[in-house]
Amino acid sequence: MDRWKGRVALVTGASVGIGAAIAKSLVQHGMKVVGCARNVKQIEDLAAECVNSGFSGTLFPYKCDVSVEEEVLSMFSWIKVQHQGIDVCVNNAGLALPEPLLSGKTSGWRTMMDVNVIGLSLCTREAYQSMKERKVNDGHIININSVCGHRVINNADAHFYTASKYAVTALTEGLRQELREAKTHIRVTGISPGLVETEFAYRLFSETPEKAVATYKSIKCLQAADITNAVGYVLSAPPHVQIGDIEITPVEQLM
Ligand SMILES: NC(=O)c1ccc[n+]([C@@H]2O[C@H](COP(=O)([O-])OP(=O)(O)OC[C@H]3O[C@@H](n4cnc5c(N)ncnc54)[C@H](OP(=O)(O)O)[C@@H]3O)[C@@H](O)[C@H]2O)c1
Repeated sequence: MDRWKGRVALVTGASVGIGAAIAKSLVQHGMKVVGCARNVKQIEDLAAECVNSGFSGTLFPYKCDVSVEEEVLSMFSWIKVQHQGIDVCVNNAGLALPEPLLSGKTSGWRTMMDVNVIGLSLCTREAYQSMKERKVNDGHIININSVCGHRVINNADAHFYTASKYAVTALTEGLRQELREAKTHIRVTGISPGLVETEFAYRLFSETPEKAVATYKSIKCLQAADITNAVGYVLSAPPHVQIGDIEITPVEQLM
């Protein structure tokens, strides 16, 4: 991780869960990390925690809804002014809403596409342009995908979310091809977790929190730190090594 010391990472969805854990770990490794989400107060608290822990990097909280293009563009302009640009982009912000294909609300489907697919693509495009204009040839884009990006589980609450994560699989591979075509050594990696104990299921089942409790009690789940370890592995890989996708599941998970 030494070569990343002092360089700039963007982590989307850094207020809680996997994104907060990744942001903290990159700060611990000496990076300047812009952590964005809508609830910026939680990122401010995390930034104070990083200072108190004596980490060598710094966490810069930024309020941004990644589904709103103007907010994403403003964030990248701010990053350019404050930090010149970014070297690592972790597209982590994402959500599932329980909107089945036969009865779900269109607004819920749109929200999932806007955050999980369009938001990720906006940040990816702007991150690439930021790297290109500064001639950064060793940048890295990490997409936090899901096992749902590779398999359709028989759960109506997850089907539209699954479609959005299948899109992330296609976007990750498509991006790799465009980067190769552009003759850059900027790399892209997907990380596809199974069940991780975060706020994710509580948000998915906000109307029926007992379902979230049952989900996390059903097996020994992954913790956010398990995903952070994978990010460290990806960013530590030698420059000629392309890591396509890492699937990480709890041992007890069936799918
Ligand atoms: N937990 C799992 O079991 C699991 C499994 C596989 C994949 N994943 C994926 O892992 C990623 C992180 O999930 P998590 O488990 O950490 O969930 P989480 O605890 O619910 O955290 C989600 C994060 O995304 C942010 N976010 C949501 N909508 C946003 C928006 N419009 N703009 C900016 N940030 C937004 C949230 O921040 P604000 O609400 O403050 O904006 C929060 O920081 C997601 O892409 C998810 O699909 C999770």
